[in-house]
Order: sequence, then structure tokens, then C-alpha cells
Amino acid sequence: MSDKPLLEIDDLWVTYWGRPNFGLKRKPLHAVKGANLSLRSGETLGLVGESGSGKSSIANTVLGLVPATSGSIHFAGNELTRMKTRYPSAIRNQIQAVFQDPYSSLNPSMTVEDILTEPLRVHTALSSNERRARAIELVKLVSLSEEHLGRHPHQFSGGQRQRIAIASALALNPKLIVLDEPVSALDVSTQNQIINLLHERREASGIAYLLIAHDLALVHHISDRIAVMYLGHIVEEGPSERVYKSPAHPYTKALLDAVPLLDPEAQRRRRAARKKAPIVEAPRVAATGCPYRNRCPSAMPRCQAEMPTPYSIAGGGTASCFLFAEGERSLPDELKRWVAP
Ligand SMILES: Nc1ncnc2c1ncn2[C@@H]1O[C@H](COP(=O)(O)OP(=O)(O)OP(=O)(O)O)[C@@H](O)[C@H]1O
Ligand SMILES: [Mg+2]
Repeated sequence: MSDKPLLEIDDLWVTYWGRPNFGLKRKPLHAVKGANLSLRSGETLGLVGESGSGKSSIANTVLGLVPATSGSIHFAGNELTRMKTRYPSAIRNQIQAVFQDPYSSLNPSMTVEDILTEPLRVHTALSSNERRARAIELVKLVSLSEEHLGRHPHQFSGGQRQRIAIASALALNPKLIVLDEPVSALDVSTQNQIINLLHERREASGIAYLLIAHDLALVHHISDRIAVMYLGHIVEEGPSERVYKSPAHPYTKALLDAVPLLDPEAQRRRRAARKKAPIVEAPRVAATGCPYRNRCPSAMPRCQAEMPTPYSIAGGGTASCFLFAEGERSLPDELKRWVAP
């Protein structure tokens, strides 16, 4: 892994404008509010958060599908946000995407061979024999076989289709693959197979992944770092194991608590603990203050008035939460050890 980030997202804002409504002014929806993220070559960054938190907006901005409202995105020394939405092919080839739904991302009228050789035909000087050889190599990389090349997407299961989508993303040897919920539509055992496949491919090729998921538990094994989003903000970021085992931000804890546990006894203990926890309000977009203040069991008066900035967490990374501000007196004992010295 090199020291210079491959992808650097700096103070990114993404705003959507609703339709004008009976002469009323169009209202902006700020889907991403000042996000900072960086990703090195060969690294996997897991981006997690509940539905609507802005994960796909970040992904689509990196892919050039949605324009940034402000801020910058640098990729391998190029500023993507300065380019019009269609990137020059030299950059487009290096950033590939895999989406949740391979039904819609794979052209149903094309065979697997067409799907895999199309980018090679457009972007490389390979002969048709060489393209076929590469297609054979690609299906094998994702544990399918040569005889699958003549089939159409509808002849495959969801997991197999996602393998084809991954093979197609690998075709041009990209530096970065943006994976937006690549396993959310699959059953649990297929999810694990695809995550393992991604892991294997990364180890073999040194590709970087921006891996988006709802479920932190599912992606923490394969991620080097995890960033957690809530209502357009990155509220916590850090080494994967630290974030998973010792979440600092109250929202990250809640996100981990929402993952069902396989052990019924552990699930029972968690339910009992949750019943004792204070009742929190439904989410609301905070005009000022912390975006999580209305749901947070640890909210303090300060959280209503001020937006927390990222504070360093012992064990690595940051959490944008006043519980970790220097000199914070109200920190519960179990959190004190996470305050960086
Ligand atoms: N094209 C659009 N036009 C208007 N609003 C949009 C558009 N795309 C997303 N939004 C809104 O922006 C916010 C963030 O959406 P986004 O799709 O980035 O979230 P997400 O974290 O990917 O959610 P999910 O987990 O459901 O995919 C949401 O409130 C969503 O309704
Ligand atoms: Mg999404």
C-alpha cells in the first residue's frame, strides 16, 4: 500500500433540488454534508449507515453520476470534481462500479462473453481472440467456468449474476471498485461467498474498494477502515476492528445493536438492556447541533447548540461526538478509556 491516498474526498457536499411545487421555492436536500474520506491503493474502506444516510450519494459522486455541490474528490492525482460528469476514458477505466442489483446492471440481451468483452473492445487494442481469452480468465477469477460465457444473465442465480458483475468490473484492471450494497439482495450464505470472493480478488490484485453496506458486521472482516454515516455526516471513522469491537459514537453503537445476534441468549440480554435505555425521539434533521442529538441516549445541552468536530479516539480514527472532547466531564466510565491521551 502506498502512502499517498488513491482517493481523497474533502469537505464534500451533495445537494438535490426537489421539483418546484405550485410556485413555491424548490427546497434543497443536502444528502452529504461536508464528508471527508480517504482511501489508499489496495485498501478497503467500508462505508456504513442506515437507509438515506447518503452512502450512495457519495458513491455516485465518485463515479461521476451525480455532481458534487462543493468540496473536492481527488483520484490518483486528478481532481474529479472539476470534470464534467463524464470522465475521460483513462480515468473511467480505473474506477469501476458494482451495484446492488445485477438484474438491472447487466444487459439482459447480451451473453456473458459480450458483457465481459465489451469494455475490452471499446477501451483496449486486444484482438478478438485475446478478448475471448481474457473473458475466459475473468469468469474463472470469479469461480464460474468457460461454458457460462454463452449464457444470458437470466440463466444465472443472483449470486452468480453478482459474480459476473464483479468479473466485468475487473476486466480493465481498475485501481478502484465502488461497490454499492453488492450483497444486500443476496441470501446470507451467498453474501459470505461474494465477500470472500472480493477479498480474494483484492489480495491478488491490489485493487482498492469503496464498499457500501448497511451491515457493519458483514463488511468489517474485509474492510481495513470503516466510516459510519448518519444523515449526511461521517460521524465516526477508524480501523475496522476498532470501530467494530469498540464503537465510540453512540450512533455506531446503535447500528451494531440493530444487527440481529445468532445467539438467542445474547439477543435476550441485549433486548433487556435496551428496555432499560432511555426513550429517544424519532430522527429529525437538526438545524444546528449534532445530527444525532434527538436520538442519542448520551445527548448533552452542548449537542443541541454546536456541531461536534471529529475527535481522536484511542485505538485509531475519530468520532464526531462531544463525549470525546478534551476535558469532557460527563463521559461515562466505560467510554473514558477511548479518549485519546
Ligand atoms: N436523485 C435524487 N433526488 C432527490 N433526492 C435524492 C436523490 N437521490 C437520493 N436522494 C435523497 O438523498 C438522501 C440520501 O440518499 P442516498 O441514496 O445517498 O442514501 P443511502 O445511504 O445510499 O440510502 P440506502 O441505504 O437506502 O441506499 C435521501 O434522503 C434520499 O431520499
Ligand atoms: Mg444507497
